Amino acid sequence: MYDAWKILVGLAIFVALFTAAFWMNAGKAAPVPEPKIDTPEIKKMAKAERKCVEDKHFMRTTHMQLINHWRDQALRDGNRDYINKDGKKYYISLQNTCMKCHSNKKDFCDKCHDYTGVSPYCWDCHIAPKEEPKRNEL
Ligand code: HEC
Ligand code: HEC
Ligand code: HEC
Repeated sequence: MYDAWKILVGLAIFVALFTAAFWMNAGKAAPVPEPKIDTPEIKKMAKAERKCVEDKHFMRTTHMQLINHWRDQALRDGNRDYINKDGKKYYISLQNTCMKCHSNKKDFCDKCHDYTGVSPYCWDCHIAPKEEPKRNEL
């Protein structure tokens, strides 16, 4: 085998170049989004009361199942009362409950979903909150 080292050096350079974009971005690419909860509706609540319908961890991990339950309960059983773990009552509505507090859909739901690559189709039918268009959409 002659020039094997050339091939190895070539390979090493190739691998280095090929992965350079990845290494250079390591740590700064696509930071995990911090969902914003600074909406008017949430700001109206006393600081200690600034809670979701269930605790934050539950919401973060289980909100998809929760809204499915909401839909089933509202439509199949005609019951729009949701009692949370603390015994607090909420009216079951995607638009008038979830999106009333989270009226910043773009900075909240969408940011997180874009990051994780999910795009719920709910807004084909359900009305999303009105928001100021972002500059890049004008
Ligand atoms: C009464 C206002 C209110 C309502 C109604 C509400 N939320 Fe929340 N939500 C909050 C607040 C405040 C937080 C932040 C909780 C915290 O930091 O402890 C939050 C947190 C969350 C989180 C976690 C965000 C994170 O940082 O991980 C998700 C997901 C979420 N809400 C989705 C929903 C969905 C879906 C609904 C409807 C089923 C809903 N929320 C209804 C106020 C509300
Ligand atoms: C903290 C990040 C985060 C926030 C904030 C968040 N979501 Fe999600 N959502 C996710 C993730 C991750 C999934 C995908 C979970 C899976 O595939 O099991 C998801 C899935 C969903 C789904 C199911 C979609 C499907 O195709 O299965 C719905 C519906 C949904 N989210 C609604 C909402 C709504 C409405 C809001 C805003 C009120 C919201 N989410 C805010 C992270 C978030
Ligand atoms: C094809 C249209 C369509 C799509 C898509 C759709 N929905 Fe609905 N949804 C409806 C209709 C119609 C109702 C009944 C409204 C009523 O009776 O007030 C409803 C009711 C609901 C309800 C209970 C009541 C309410 O006002 O919120 C929830 C929760 C709900 N949908 C969640 C979702 C979620 C989450 C998604 C996406 C994963 C979704 N829907 C996608 C049409 C749709």
